[in-house]
Amino acid sequence: MQVGVPKEIKSQEYRVGLTPGAVREYVHAGNTVLVETGAGDGINTDDDAYRKAGAEIVKDAAEVFSRAQMIVKVKEPQKEEWERLSPGKILFTYLHLAPDPRQTRGLIESGCTAIAYETVTDARGGLPLLAPMSEVAGRLAIEAAGQSLKRFNGGRGLLMGGVPGVQAARVVVLGGGVVGTHAARMAVGLGAEVTVLDRSLPRLRELDELFEGRVRTRFSALQSIEEEVFSADVVIGAVLVPGASAPKLVTRGMLKHMKRGAVVVDVAIDQGGCFETSRPTTHADPVYAIDGVIHYCVANMPGSVPLTSSHALNNATLPFGLALASKGLRAVLDDPHLRNGLNVLRGQITHPAVAASLGLPFKDPVAAVEEELRKG
Ligand SMILES: NC(=O)c1ccc[n+]([C@@H]2O[C@H](COP(=O)([O-])OP(=O)(O)OC[C@H]3O[C@@H](n4cnc5c(N)ncnc54)[C@H](O)[C@@H]3O)[C@@H](O)[C@H]2O)c1
Repeated sequence: MQVGVPKEIKSQEYRVGLTPGAVREYVHAGNTVLVETGAGDGINTDDDAYRKAGAEIVKDAAEVFSRAQMIVKVKEPQKEEWERLSPGKILFTYLHLAPDPRQTRGLIESGCTAIAYETVTDARGGLPLLAPMSEVAGRLAIEAAGQSLKRFNGGRGLLMGGVPGVQAARVVVLGGGVVGTHAARMAVGLGAEVTVLDRSLPRLRELDELFEGRVRTRFSALQSIEEEVFSADVVIGAVLVPGASAPKLVTRGMLKHMKRGAVVVDVAIDQGGCFETSRPTTHADPVYAIDGVIHYCVANMPGSVPLTSSHALNNATLPFGLALASKGLRAVLDDPHLRNGLNVLRGQITHPAVAASLGLPFKDPVAAVEEELRKG
């Protein structure tokens, strides 16, 4: 198959869909890989490194999109990208469609097949292609919070771990999945006082074991959220209901009861955010304050450490990408986990949570793929 890698064009996004190491695997498996010139700039990798890995360097995104049958990216397509897609093309990337009706309409109208990294599953019920970026974002969330806590940034002027004899920061993590666990790990490492809330009791039990009592766990409910958020110095938003918009756990009214200069880092912003007052921000202008509470809501946090993130992402996407490249849409029929990643096919929404969130009709993915394969 002809596989294409365009340079990412979203603001402040420096990751790349395929690293040279991954390109080598695709080429070794018999595929042709077209890489847009400069696609690896953000990870300090030049065109020559891609050439050595077996890629053909092409002059622009238009050529990648027109010649490749499968496009491998990182961030959701921007308008000029979805306008380049057409029926028969496979797009393999993060999409986050639930809070993004405009992009969804663009993909529907393009007629392409869009497979979202964030809804591909694994046998343990996890999200293997979201996990590596969630690991990165969870760890970065505490760095971002520490920065915002500083007085000259509008924060409470508090050192995350305190010092002997002085209270450390109280860090509250909403959602104890991958982001939440890695945020908790970093916060504990710095010496903060950490509480994790989750709706899943089995998950809370696992966290209790994992952190051997160094993290408090609480069941996530209206009362416990209020109690914890009101006394927090830092709140990390890390909830996820796969494919759906994030539940709004912290309302506008609740901010008034929070400490002035407290920091919220809404990592779940890519699914709409779990604070009512969250709106997406960028690395160039990452924070804003409402009622004296600093909000950090960067939607592509791992993009700030593209070297780590691109390699971590490629490690996870490689087996799925190789299966798609060698079998095309049949790979989606053969693997129920990859099938869960299928969000859009020829103008139809094939993921139930995405369809429900956007109020659009849902098409069974197996039926949609079989129809597509019959059409040839
Ligand atoms: N901003 C970024 O750059 C960035 C990067 C990576 C991931 N993310 C996002 O972070 C979010 C979390 O991702 P993850 O990989 O940790 O997901 P995950 O599935 O591993 O964890 C989510 C957790 O939220 C819990 N949860 C669901 N509803 C809850 C509720 N009402 N109260 C408390 N907990 C609840 C679940 O039980 C689960 O443990 C996702 O929206 C993901 O897209 C953002």
